[in-house]
Amino acid sequence: MQNRRFFLKLFSAGSLGTIPFLNASAGSRERKPAKGKAVVISTWDFGKEANAAAWKTLGAGGAALDAVEQGVHVPEADPTNQTVGLGGFPDRDGKVTLDACIMDHQLNCGSVACLENILHPISVARRVMEKTPHVMLVGEGALQFALAQGFEKTNLLTPASEKAWKEWLKTSQYEPVINIENRKKEEDPKHLPGGPYNHDTIGMLALDADGRMAGACTTSGAAWKMHGRVGDSPIIGAGLYVDNEIGAATSSGLGEEVIRTCGSHLVVELMRQGNSPEESCKKAVERIVKRDPVKAKKLQVGFLALSNQGTYGAFAIHPGFTFSVKSQQTETIIAAKSWFK
Ligand code: GLY
Repeated sequence: MQNRRFFLKLFSAGSLGTIPFLNASAGSRERKPAKGKAVVISTWDFGKEANAAAWKTLGAGGAALDAVEQGVHVPEADPTNQTVGLGGFPDRDGKVTLDACIMDHQLNCGSVACLENILHPISVARRVMEKTPHVMLVGEGALQFALAQGFEKTNLLTPASEKAWKEWLKTSQYEPVINIENRKKEEDPKHLPGGPYNHDTIGMLALDADGRMAGACTTSGAAWKMHGRVGDSPIIGAGLYVDNEIGAATSSGLGEEVIRTCGSHLVVELMRQGNSPEESCKKAVERIVKRDPVKAKKLQVGFLALSNQGTYGAFAIHPGFTFSVKSQQTETIIAAKSWFK
């Protein structure tokens, strides 16, 4: 009873705003999204072609959700890109398993993980969002759903990726090629910086002319992973998060580290606290680096963020992480700053 009286007193006489722990919105940068400032950004330089596909919708005043789905279809269908969709490196059992998720401006989201034999996992993720009461379907269940929705089975293992897998089988050492983005040509000719061999997940974020945001993230995940391994890319809050009151974030790199830190959600919440997109990505990277600075020297994670005002930024653990931007005024590829130089 005494406690109750204490609380009644506490809540009286307009005291609410003066109690810091109750003033949850202190410092919050929630703002109405900007209108008429359509922009799309995506991870890596191959994002440029994906952005161009997204821009066909976005530039014509279309919805961000349609734009990101159409945009990431490009790397999903590209057999020369060996870390997304068709032609992706298989797991250690020789199976190409795909992870993808999509999110709109109203926190609607859909996701598939460990999905096999479907060319466009992002579109299955969208159907999960729109046609089921669930957020995430995995493995056989995701495949069953995709087939029931009319998607056709496609063999995703290309001869080039099968050859690479057979080569790997000779040692069977699971050592994800970390920080391959900043390898020098002379160190490893196959892993050219910015070359198709070393590209990772595509994460795409868009703001449309009506102020609606959306994001998509899709990958074949870590090469030679254990069968059934799921990375950050299909996990809402890890590989992707969109909150129209603030902005959106996505990630690329070693998924396990992003999952541990709920990376993309963290970036959005850091933006909510008033940090710029780049500062927010940097603070999320710092969280990973500080947890294990020695390990961080050997792994790459990059975050990419877009505010609902159309400003954007990125940050990575190591140099080499790039992102692509497309708007009415701009079409460019930018090298993200990094923790280690
Ligand atoms: N970021 C992609 C993965 O770890 O699967």
